[in-house]
Amino acid sequence: MSNGLFQPARRFRKNMLAASLLSVRPSSSVLDAIVVIVMTTSLNSMSASRDRQYYLHDFNARLYLDQFYGSTKNGHTTITNEASGFIFSTLKSFLQRCPKGEGRLLDMGTGPCLANVIPAARYFNHIYCADLSPKARQELEKWRLGRADAFDWTTFFKFSAVLDQKADEWMTYETNLRQSIRAIWPCDMTEDDPLSPQSIAPVDVVTESFMLGTVANDADDLVKLVHRLSRYLKSGGTMVITESTNASFYQLDGKLLYICQLKESDYLSALEKNGFAQIEVVRASDANVKDDQQVSDIGDDIIIKAIKTG
Ligand SMILES: C[S@@+](CC[C@H](N)C(=O)[O-])C[C@H]1O[C@@H](n2cnc3c(N)ncnc32)[C@H](O)[C@@H]1O
Repeated sequence: MSNGLFQPARRFRKNMLAASLLSVRPSSSVLDAIVVIVMTTSLNSMSASRDRQYYLHDFNARLYLDQFYGSTKNGHTTITNEASGFIFSTLKSFLQRCPKGEGRLLDMGTGPCLANVIPAARYFNHIYCADLSPKARQELEKWRLGRADAFDWTTFFKFSAVLDQKADEWMTYETNLRQSIRAIWPCDMTEDDPLSPQSIAPVDVVTESFMLGTVANDADDLVKLVHRLSRYLKSGGTMVITESTNASFYQLDGKLLYICQLKESDYLSALEKNGFAQIEVVRASDANVKDDQQVSDIGDDIIIKAIKTG
């Protein structure tokens, strides 16, 4: 870890890593460094395809939510001053500035997670979600149907309402999102047409968060993956990418999961090579968000907004 900055999920990963995986005490910085080296070394032998199988069959989507988004259950003030709040509010301001067109937004690699689509529903009323993992899609569906055993996203809805100075109206944000999610589709980013056999007219905005890094093999592969996302976007439409940089793993369910070690410049280059322009980048480090993560090699988190020119 170069500077201790984390995206929401990674930020919440810290306690699990320290407590459940290796019992590293917060003060044992030497041990932590050794653990990072051991973990990183062991991941060198992991292949992306192996993890595709994991996401397809074994991804513990509910644990992912509990582990990475559950610590916000104490209330929206918990995330206001954290990296999670910073990323959420950056995403929201990017989405607010996007041309709205027909109000159609596609979130690829949604996972079981509403963190992208909660801010999106403020501005877009046709939202399409897609993910490889059936268990992740089930979690989304449970929430959409309002089932009692669905994950509780109240904190994020309240936070979104607070950002609009409409704290009392947070429940309408939930209702709006339920109405705005039009589909939850399977997808596979390793295919040329990831949504096939589903077809979709090009949308106004494509978003993704922390999916590209779990799928890409290297920087060249990232160019191909961005091309696949871009095919669903209108000319003049906006792509918003949220990713960790210089990371190689995260931990879930006692397993180390692969993240492709990519730099900010790899993401920018992948967008430029696919004809994107007017690129804006916001870094978690810009907000000087400090984190006490003890076991990780994640560098920074970035949110990128770019316009499709072709
Ligand atoms: C780290 S999670 C990110 C989830 C969510 N977007 C978030 O921000 O928390 C990575 C997601 O990518 C999905 N994924 C992995 N391989 C994929 C593939 N080949 N095609 C589409 N999605 C994939 C996983 O199922 C998982 O939901």
